[in-house]
Amino acid sequence: MPAPWWSQAVFYQVYPRSFRDSDGDGVGDLDGVTARLDYLQRLGVDAIWLNPVMVSPMVDHGYDVADARDVDSLFGGLAALDRLIEAAHGRGIKITMDLVPNHTSSHHPWFQAALRAGPGSVERERYIFRDGTGRDGGRPPNNWLSIFGGPAWTRVVEPDGRPGQWYLHLFDAEQPDLNWDNPEVFEDLEKTLRFWLERGVDGFRIDVAHGMAKPPGLPDMKVAKAEMVLSDMDDDPRFNNDGVHEIHRQIRRVFDDYAHAVAIGEVWVYDNEQFSRYVRPDELHLGFNFRLVRTRFDAAEVRAAIENAMAAADLVDATPTWTLSNHDVDRAPTRYGGGQRGLSRALAMTLVMLALPGAVFVYNGEELGLPNVDLPDEALRDPIWERSGHTLRGRDACRVPIPWDGDAPPFGFSTNPQTWLPIPSEWAALTVEKQVGDPNSTLSFYRRAIDLRRNRPEFDGRSVEWLDSPDDCLVFRRDGGLVCVLNAGSAAVALPEGEVVHASAPLVEGNLPPDAAAWLA
Ligand code: GLC
Ligand code: MG
Repeated sequence: MPAPWWSQAVFYQVYPRSFRDSDGDGVGDLDGVTARLDYLQRLGVDAIWLNPVMVSPMVDHGYDVADARDVDSLFGGLAALDRLIEAAHGRGIKITMDLVPNHTSSHHPWFQAALRAGPGSVERERYIFRDGTGRDGGRPPNNWLSIFGGPAWTRVVEPDGRPGQWYLHLFDAEQPDLNWDNPEVFEDLEKTLRFWLERGVDGFRIDVAHGMAKPPGLPDMKVAKAEMVLSDMDDDPRFNNDGVHEIHRQIRRVFDDYAHAVAIGEVWVYDNEQFSRYVRPDELHLGFNFRLVRTRFDAAEVRAAIENAMAAADLVDATPTWTLSNHDVDRAPTRYGGGQRGLSRALAMTLVMLALPGAVFVYNGEELGLPNVDLPDEALRDPIWERSGHTLRGRDACRVPIPWDGDAPPFGFSTNPQTWLPIPSEWAALTVEKQVGDPNSTLSFYRRAIDLRRNRPEFDGRSVEWLDSPDDCLVFRRDGGLVCVLNAGSAAVALPEGEVVHASAPLVEGNLPPDAAAWLA
């Protein structure tokens, strides 16, 4: 059987609000993506992952879905998605969407009906409603915290006007968790999956894929923490409950009717054996392994992240996935220390990532070397800012719109100077227009790297062999012969034998400088 299209694919994550605005409302949209497909084709990506574009009040920018089988008018409606699918397929680019099965928007008709119907109704059984504890039920049913800060429960006012039950929301109060013990929930998700797959969508990234199932009795958390990264699964009853795997098997059976489609889970689970369960042959095709994202620029840590991610996939003969950034984490140049050094390190890590076997995810703007943006308080839009009582700034800093051209904001992103997040004027130096013709730009660097990865036989094979390396460096070889060297130390190092086909920084007298990586064929 030939390897599926996604097994070595470069996915490009489009955050639709921030890619390109076609209608001048200051928010990116799907016709904006369609208009820039030439750019993505030239970059060499195989597929696009679109963050949610379904109908939503946009409290969490689309992760609060009010109608899972329609496209929000903010993004151009269903017709705009059809145009994008057709145009992308015409260029050989696949389109994957984001699916949000753990929760809906509080504006979803199901939740509105649940509020109206009152305690004990079948409508309430689609969500997780419980009576409170303490006197008059005035305290939440358990001690769970929302990922976005504050309690994971909100009390409702009953139809008779009295304070009543509480409902669970692992994220914002506007994102009530669905009750996956209720068969109606999967039946509806199946309709949603088939609706989009029949329209030609090539797969889904599945949001909070380690969520959905809840433990019987909803026991308290032992350690009350908000974060959803699981280093020790047993501590956190909110995620990674056994029942989740039967849900993935149900989802997979639907996918199996659409042989072309891929299911990619967002799986914040660290333990290799636990992680591997999500990518067993009858569950997800791919799972995001976030070890590399969480790793400092340190040779031993990077190697450990790679080894663990590969070991987790190998346990069940699955394909590993790699990513350095997304819409939820600080941009790589900022994580690695900011400034020129942070950028150099990010580019070095890009060569490491693109040298690895498996599927790779590039987040829009990464190919331009965009850093996080320090936004003023009044510009912040992430619900985390409000929910944390203005203690956590949230994720807006990595979601600022793409600078396309010109010398001043909004840099061709929109015709509207009021973009949904402001674009800093310093990004004049980072526009696509400035970088596209410059052979030394970050964009040219990405294009060449993706092109080599796609076309050179040295990238063949599924395994990685670690070679002897100087201190603070790592060196590995692919089956096809590609050698990747990362220098995370403080002195230049000699390179092994071979032709240097790409490097993230100019060599110094034939040596690889610190904070750099090189590919040898
Ligand atoms: C996922 C998304 C994140 C969203 C959350 C709730 O982690 O990546 O952006 O806020 O789920 O849906
Ligand atoms: Mg728009």
